[in-house]
Amino acid sequence: MSNTEMNSSISWNDFPVEDIMNRKTQAVAETEEIAIEFEDLEMGAARIRVDEKRIINCRADLNQLVPFKYSWAWEKYLTACANHWMPNEINMAADIALWKDPNGLTEDERIVIKRNLGFFSTADSLVANNLVLAVYRHITNPECRQYLLRQAFEEAIHTHGYQHIIQSLGLDEAEVFNMYREIPSVAKKAEWAIPYCRSLSDRNFRTGTPENDQRLLRDLIAFYVVFEGIFFYVGFTQILSMGRRNKMTGTSEQFQYILRDESMHMNFGIDVINQIKIENPHLWSEDFQQEMITLIKEGIDLEYQYAVDTMPRGILGLNANMFKEYLHYVGNRRCLQIGLPEQYPGAENPFPWMSEMMDLKKEKNFFETRVIEYQAGGTLNWDEE
Ligand SMILES: [Fe+2]
Ligand SMILES: [Fe+2]
Repeated sequence: MSNTEMNSSISWNDFPVEDIMNRKTQAVAETEEIAIEFEDLEMGAARIRVDEKRIINCRADLNQLVPFKYSWAWEKYLTACANHWMPNEINMAADIALWKDPNGLTEDERIVIKRNLGFFSTADSLVANNLVLAVYRHITNPECRQYLLRQAFEEAIHTHGYQHIIQSLGLDEAEVFNMYREIPSVAKKAEWAIPYCRSLSDRNFRTGTPENDQRLLRDLIAFYVVFEGIFFYVGFTQILSMGRRNKMTGTSEQFQYILRDESMHMNFGIDVINQIKIENPHLWSEDFQQEMITLIKEGIDLEYQYAVDTMPRGILGLNANMFKEYLHYVGNRRCLQIGLPEQYPGAENPFPWMSEMMDLKKEKNFFETRVIEYQAGGTLNWDEE
């Protein structure tokens, strides 16, 4: 039977509007009033007002993007789209030649590259799964969800990027992807993060009580502030240092694009966290703040351990002590960004060039390899025919 024939046997009369309106699913009945499930349409319902919108526990329709309440979320969505890039556009020829040259890299440099590919290749999938299976469902705001959808796609691009590097260099894929179950320094960070997404991905979990809202806030801080805001930074610094020394420039360029995306993911997460705090000040209790300080400090310690394990002898003028200082500096920034006091007085940034890396200009990138310019509009040429 063709599609046309199939369609001709269906009539709109088979779907009386009243019937659809009255059909309540079990799932909807269980959600009470928070609009996280598919709500029944309410014909003639009033139009959405900005003051009804909330980041969590919102009762307004989530299928209507506007009117915007959180313009920062929409702005980040637009910027992220304008920053679009794809891994296979980056030339990997110099990296392949260097990797294959027996004298091209030291053994320690090779270990750093492999460990970071091992960590990041699974870390970005973990972040994406946390977003889609745990966080997305409980963020009850359409403009934030619009950004989350973009972020989820970017995480897929990042995993694609790591796969592209692994394949280009001819590495053993099974060995690299399984590193988070074989190499302790790679495993520890993922192991630390998994419990935070597990509670939220429980299908019976609902926000709406102070305890559960804190669980969501804790997951957001664990992922956006610690995982994306601390656990990525030793690896990014190590790989980008190679690029600065004209080694593995294609790999470094991929990491540079990823770093730019990641710094926006983290800033978006911090905006969400701070907005939840404004709308729900009771969640930000003294005890909870102390718990979050502990969480951040644990993250700093684990990331420092990762620096020690991945470069026990130091490489490229970097050593573990510099990373201790850097991580303390990063830890202070993360605390301040979510309204907590600094934990490491006087820490300074030994890698000021890292901030330049985040402000990657699309017209000309740092490593001067191939650049693809994406524009947000006016690039499509429709064939007149
Ligand atoms: Fe990512
Ligand atoms: Fe991310």
